[in-house]
Amino acid sequence: MFGSIYIIYRTICDANMRQKYIITEFIKSKELKDIKEQLNHVSWKSGLDSLCSDPNNIPSNYKSNLETNLLDYESWNAAIHNNISFHNFVVTKGWSNIFISRMKEGDYYKPHVDEHIIDNVISHYSTTIFLSNPDEYDGGELSLYLNGEIKNFKLNAGHAITYETGIPHCVNEVTRGCRDVLAFWCESHIPDMNDLDALRYYSKMQKIVESKNNYEVFDCLEDYVGSDFYQFQSKTNMILKKYGLRTNVVKSMKTA
Ligand SMILES: [Fe+2]
Repeated sequence: MFGSIYIIYRTICDANMRQKYIITEFIKSKELKDIKEQLNHVSWKSGLDSLCSDPNNIPSNYKSNLETNLLDYESWNAAIHNNISFHNFVVTKGWSNIFISRMKEGDYYKPHVDEHIIDNVISHYSTTIFLSNPDEYDGGELSLYLNGEIKNFKLNAGHAITYETGIPHCVNEVTRGCRDVLAFWCESHIPDMNDLDALRYYSKMQKIVESKNNYEVFDCLEDYVGSDFYQFQSKTNMILKKYGLRTNVVKSMKTA
């Protein structure tokens, strides 16, 4: 009954390979206003002191460390925990400190790849949260090299892109105004990106089956074992077991 849905969905996934990034809303407008107000009072340090070991990759930007200047970690950790879409995508294990980057007219990041260990955290995903709205500055797009193509991102304030660490990227020169972003890096429970993509797929399929109440029509155990629901559930559990994870890790994935 639902076979055609699965085939179409899987075909789309195969054609585009795995999902390498996600866009989510991290900060609502009220919190955003508070953060922007605080940015008026922080002290900025040269971006040349930044995380990247090669200073040639950071020619002209400024950053400030959240730990000393902005928000407290408990609030910020809560903000990350509350972003279910982000959590479902990454299957988050831990994350780095948060850095604030301010770019003014003439600033840019040259093409580079983020380090895989940042703040003693193994980074599987990089996240940039835009704090400035697109009409506040010109240029300053985050440019990712994805599947052989360059894709530009300039998101509304409060929205973020989370992408696989290892994707080459740059920030185009800001030609007007001021571009503020928060950035952090995080580790996934599932470091093999193909396994992670498969887990997302099987969880999604379980969700579709459940939403159709397909599982209610089983008359006997044989029906259940032969069902699509069981197949997807079984494959989901296999991946979780491989990484020593319990099934409750993906419970929120199914309810999101
Ligand atoms: Fe970067």
